[in-house]
Amino acid sequence: MKTATTVAALRETVAGWKREGLRVAVVPTMGALHEAHLALVRLARARADRTIVTIFVNPKQFNDPADLANYPRTEANDAAMVEAEGADLLFAPAPGEMYPENFSTAVSVTKVSEDLCGKHRPGHFDGVATVVAKLFNQTQADIAVFGEKDFQQMHVVRRMARDLDIPITIVPCPTVREADGLAMSSRNARLSADDRRTAAQLSQTLFEAARRIAAGDPVHSVIAVAHRRLMKNGFRSVDYIELRAEADLRPLTTASEPARLLAAAHLGPVRLIDNVPVK
Ligand code: PAF
Repeated sequence: MKTATTVAALRETVAGWKREGLRVAVVPTMGALHEAHLALVRLARARADRTIVTIFVNPKQFNDPADLANYPRTEANDAAMVEAEGADLLFAPAPGEMYPENFSTAVSVTKVSEDLCGKHRPGHFDGVATVVAKLFNQTQADIAVFGEKDFQQMHVVRRMARDLDIPITIVPCPTVREADGLAMSSRNARLSADDRRTAAQLSQTLFEAARRIAAGDPVHSVIAVAHRRLMKNGFRSVDYIELRAEADLRPLTTASEPARLLAAAHLGPVRLIDNVPVK
């Protein structure tokens, strides 16, 4: 596996692949890799001839400085993991390479980024859209793989690529879960042992609520019960639990079309997000 830390070195490698007519995939990450990231790499490798993994802890998408300061960083381990998984190139730029002095541009995707997590993390999706637009331009990848755990992010990125005419296909990868159902996330490492046990309640509550909605129970009362269950079991607060259309995240009052139940809730120092399909 090659490693590039500059855009010039990345471009040189990709240009060689493109001359050979190879199909290129990118897997954008912020490092602190775990099994769910490896699932993204596996999917990318299955869909393309060459796979780039990017690791960049993007300061622009952290609306809380403490969250950025505490974000886990495990660079050496990350590089070994992506190499073992068969990635062809690791792109790990320093902040100055991504945002040189006087960097003045922001990509802002309206509508689809405005509520759910967007409402609770002002500026977060502008930071995501900006860095992902840069990564798409830098890598010139044909496909990009994103985890469905960050369901709203996937929609924001897809809309951004479409609106800016970036010729890339966004490939969703199903959420990878721990044995008790907790969606894998780099932030889970910051949960205490007690909180880690409680954390599984989030997915369990969502799956149960999705079952009830699919069975025809009224959405607002199912969501109220789910909200109470999380608070009773030790969550500090619930940002939202909402039923949305899978296709475009429109709010739904019944599961009249393919839908997702999405939630964000705070447990100890960590904000957890998850979503499940409503059949
Ligand atoms: O999902 C993430 O890890 C980040 O939001 C991403 C897509 C790598 C952009 O920094």
